[in-house]
Amino acid sequence: MLTLLIVAIVAVCDADLGPDVIATKGEVWPKPQRQEKSQNYFIVQPQTFNFMPPDNVGCPSFLRGALTRYSNIIANQQPVKPRKRSWKVGDNFAGFLEILNIELEEECPDEDVLPGFGDVEEYTLTVTATEGTLSAPTIWGVLRGLETFSQLIYLEEDTLLINATTIHDFPRFPHRGLLIDTSRHFEPVEVILQHLDAMAYNKLNVFHWHITDDHSFPYKSRTYPELSNQGAYHPVAKIYNQEDVKRVIEHARLRGIRVIPEFDTPAHTRSWGVAYPELLTTCYENGAPTGELGPMDPSKDSTYDFLTNLFTEVTKAGKFALLSSCWYLSELVDGPDWNIFYKCEPLDFDGSDEQKKLVLGGEACMWGEYVNQYNIIPKVWPGASAVAERLWSNVNVSNFTDAQKRIEEHACRMNRRGIGALPPNGPGFCL
Ligand SMILES: *[C@@H]1O[C@H](CO)[C@@H](O)[C@H](O)[C@H]1NC(C)=O
Ligand SMILES: *[C@@H]1O[C@H](CO)[C@@H](O)[C@H](O)[C@H]1NC(C)=O
Ligand SMILES: *[C@@H]1O[C@H](CO)[C@@H](O)[C@H](O)[C@H]1NC(C)=O
Repeated sequence: MLTLLIVAIVAVCDADLGPDVIATKGEVWPKPQRQEKSQNYFIVQPQTFNFMPPDNVGCPSFLRGALTRYSNIIANQQPVKPRKRSWKVGDNFAGFLEILNIELEEECPDEDVLPGFGDVEEYTLTVTATEGTLSAPTIWGVLRGLETFSQLIYLEEDTLLINATTIHDFPRFPHRGLLIDTSRHFEPVEVILQHLDAMAYNKLNVFHWHITDDHSFPYKSRTYPELSNQGAYHPVAKIYNQEDVKRVIEHARLRGIRVIPEFDTPAHTRSWGVAYPELLTTCYENGAPTGELGPMDPSKDSTYDFLTNLFTEVTKAGKFALLSSCWYLSELVDGPDWNIFYKCEPLDFDGSDEQKKLVLGGEACMWGEYVNQYNIIPKVWPGASAVAERLWSNVNVSNFTDAQKRIEEHACRMNRRGIGALPPNGPGFCL
């Protein structure tokens, strides 16, 4: 007891007052490629501010959801009951921001268009007068620009402000993903949808769904229902049926995120063998079967037929695009250790310039051994935000001290939007 008391006193005497890292105000994460900022600022009043969508045929309905989402995000940033106004406008006050005009340079896509590899995500955002403009060649660029616009708005006392700003932005890499493993532990659809929201807040564009593995087979196949009837942790409560899969794909699509399912094969398939043991190889020892099963049996034609049938169903019904991929494994890392990810430069590996040109991007990978629905959000965020910035921003955006202040604001921003991101820098507070 005495020792504890002494330790406590030392700790109190040692501590500094206030947060360890002071958050920025209205800085964008991931940092835009080109941005000019000014000290001049506009007041944003959610009650009177409006988005002005383009009048191309079809676009209003595709965009409507996004504009509603961002209107709500902006309105929710305003305190419900403003305190007595203590804050007064200063010399740099430039007026009230009334409108953000949205210009789409291309035709609007069909309502059911899916994001694809290499889609243009570029946009230009200009807020220098009481009418701002967001213009982009594609709908995906508009979505990225709306996210940026929402992040520029910050609270000063009880008033929402946006500084005069011009941004021209585009990603450094086309493939910026998050991998979630739903086999080691089942993650309910609601949790997956939260990750998709957080991905949009970080401009990640690929949800890599590591849907099956050794431990369980949660995908409910129409062609082979016994796979999940026997191979899932629970045949009803721990599965994704066709409706669930559709919900995930649609939620992702509206946010410009591709869904890539991975049915891990030919190894990591123990869960397949519960219903279909003939798919797997028989293990032998001293010439006799051991009773154990190995990876998928590549010597049988029936294995290929089975996979062809399953993947035909998956690609058709789910409108998934299949991808074969390889990646470098890194240790799993807690949110506070986001700095390990941040300090990782994607092209910093032994290889020629020609080889480096072939890198498409990267992914933050959350393997499921030690995460379930209760801890996966803080395990992933804001660690994946660090990855998102290294994959989106210019190669020279790597100043850790600078990033600390911005990610402090960004983690609070995610918290405010309902994402349980961990505090990234130790003691501090969110407004
Ligand atoms: C935004 O404007 C305010 C008020 O003039 C100024 O104090 C602040 O430094 C500006 N922020 C940036 C990022 O330029
Ligand atoms: C990084 O490079 C871009 C483009 O070359 C430049 O506009 C920007 O100012 C640089 N940023 C930093 C932090 O050096
Ligand atoms: C990194 O950012 C900090 C804080 O914004 C700044 O003080 C420092 O000069 C920057 N370092 C370099 C090398 O640019």
